[in-house]
Amino acid sequence: MMDQKVSELLNDQINKELYSAYLYLDMANFYAAKGLDGFANWYEIQAKEEQDHAMLIYKYLHNNSQTVTLGAIAKPDKEFKTLADPLNAAYEHEQYVTSLINAIYAAAQAANDYRTVQFLDWFVKEQGEEEKNSSDLITKLELFGSDPKGLYMLNSELGGRVYSAPSLQI
Ligand code: FEO
Repeated sequence: MMDQKVSELLNDQINKELYSAYLYLDMANFYAAKGLDGFANWYEIQAKEEQDHAMLIYKYLHNNSQTVTLGAIAKPDKEFKTLADPLNAAYEHEQYVTSLINAIYAAAQAANDYRTVQFLDWFVKEQGEEEKNSSDLITKLELFGSDPKGLYMLNSELGGRVYSAPSLQI
């Protein structure tokens, strides 16, 4: 039987991941309106990945006979003015998500729930990649964003991102 606190934290995380998807869709929306289709593509794919994260946790809870309760998803509340704003907000948000995953990990360890610890190992690694990707994007925009040709190239690069299903299968 799964520890109740661990189960509740995982249940909450489904909502947090779906909020992340919604937040990234809002970023895609911001860039699409600016005509930066590559940036928009990047964040549309990011939104899909967040939905995958939510579904992995949803399925894991069901596979372990836990009751899942779905709550309301909050409205994306970040305001974007400059091209850098969503990138900075994304990096900050991923650091926050890492702290959430770490908190669930710690609770699972405290409950000797090694199955959940092992399940979360994938998320710990994924968060490392998400933080690096979002931080790298900030650096690239700082380096190349003030030059129109540089911005065009960066937009083209981000437009080449292709969705792939998560390596973790439940
Ligand atoms: Fe699901 Fe970007 O963390």
